[in-house]
Amino acid sequence: MIGGTGALGKALAIRLASAGHEVWIGSRSADKAQAAAAEVAELVGRAVNGAAYADAAAASEVCFLAVPYAAQVETLAAIRQAVQGKVVVDTTAPLKPPKVGTVQLPAAGCAAVETAQALGPEVRVVSALQTIGAEKLAAGGDIDADVLVTGDDNEAVEQVRAVLGEIGLRSWHAGPLANSAASEALTSILIQLNRRYKLGQAGIKVSAEKLKGGLTVKPVQGLPMFTAGDDLAGAIAEALVASGDKLLAGDVLVVAQKAVSKCEDRAVLLANVTPTDRAREVAAASGKEPAACELMLGEASEVMRAAPGVVITRHRTGHVLANAGLDASNVSAEAGETLLLWPKDPDASARALRAALEARFGVRIGVIVSDSLGRAWRLGTTGHAIGVAGLKPLRDRRGESDLFGRELQATLIGVADEIAAAASLVMGEAAEAIPAAIVRGATYVADETAGVGEMLRPLDQDLFR
Ligand SMILES: NC(=O)c1ccc[n+]([C@@H]2O[C@H](COP(=O)([O-])OP(=O)(O)OC[C@H]3O[C@@H](n4cnc5c(N)ncnc54)[C@H](OP(=O)(O)O)[C@@H]3O)[C@@H](O)[C@H]2O)c1
Repeated sequence: MIGGTGALGKALAIRLASAGHEVWIGSRSADKAQAAAAEVAELVGRAVNGAAYADAAAASEVCFLAVPYAAQVETLAAIRQAVQGKVVVDTTAPLKPPKVGTVQLPAAGCAAVETAQALGPEVRVVSALQTIGAEKLAAGGDIDADVLVTGDDNEAVEQVRAVLGEIGLRSWHAGPLANSAASEALTSILIQLNRRYKLGQAGIKVSAEKLKGGLTVKPVQGLPMFTAGDDLAGAIAEALVASGDKLLAGDVLVVAQKAVSKCEDRAVLLANVTPTDRAREVAAASGKEPAACELMLGEASEVMRAAPGVVITRHRTGHVLANAGLDASNVSAEAGETLLLWPKDPDASARALRAALEARFGVRIGVIVSDSLGRAWRLGTTGHAIGVAGLKPLRDRRGESDLFGRELQATLIGVADEIAAAASLVMGEAAEAIPAAIVRGATYVADETAGVGEMLRPLDQDLFR
């Protein structure tokens, strides 16, 4: 800890020694270093060493630099030899008194780059901690602030981040060493905030919806009953705005097939359908209405089973499901008995919704058109994706390692179905009339061209045919 007699250096020395590290405090004066070391040792209850800069640097594996910017050049000259081949953590903010609240970065771009230039290519310089107050660190306890860590050597950055984690600091790899300019500039900004608002020692925190923890599934409230020709994307956008919400980057909007089909005018009056002989056969086997069976035949590429009460079909899109997706529930019967068909191309419906909503909210999202389907060997329907846009419906984890380093072999995750199923928990089939939900925080692979067909098991892999 070069500068370990000072405010930041001593605070770090206390935390590192408490975490079990062997700490060497470096000072321009060996006596002063030893006095500070004895003080820290007393506090943490374990031995701490003190030595002149060069000796402390020579004893260290990772060397922290915590001296004022004005002392940077002379200090680096003192430790240069001793740190060759090592990792040096530069904490310097290039403050130029008396205007410490004004950003005044050096000509090289930032102090950390100057440090790297002075120490030479064999030293891996990592910059960190410019936004953490020494007093807060010294006081112990939790720190409600983050550390930006920059460096050109990823391994060194991660090594430093691991050490920071041990002393209770959440950190982020914020890119190459040149990006230290931003962290160093923030010191002056924080000084301004501290003065202006009497904040004590302000810090910074990285915020993102994802960090709020886990997954959230929010119903889109206040949508109307849809009819043919309605602007579904416009209605969803309005409903979101009216409830003070919006779509955020990475959100997945799940929309019930039924709402999409209604807007796309996919309702058919049974009275207008003339059943063929084949439809009458299916009707006889299943007990369903011949006109309904005619519509199923029109939507299906294959009737796989027809038995009393059930017709299992392969839909023309490739999905295997009951009744070729035909649905009478929540369809108004005013004009006579009406059935609702799936959208003509559910992927295209999802793409259109996505394009309209991305344009409206200015963020990248995923869209899933969902339906509640039964599953072959299990009872109970669950939400399934029948159309997707903006995301890969499968997440291929083959080749990744498990916790013990074993390679995952057959791990294709049906992410789109999982998201659709999560959304269906709040969407409600019956009288809830909630045909859309936002799933926030789901892990998926964004993709511009993927369609739901990727999820369908190829026919030649069907062991039951
Ligand atoms: N304080 C904070 O909250 C904080 C937070 C983030 C980053 N930083 C950065 O950390 C570094 C150290 O800050 P600090 O507040 O801990 O500083 P400090 O207490 O004023 O000084 C740290 C140590 O630097 C050594 N030093 C070497 N040459 C010096 C010189 N010419 N004049 C004065 N001291 C000299 C002194 O140790 P010896 O006399 O034993 O040699 C001193 O104890 C700075 O670059 C600062 O920007 C500080």
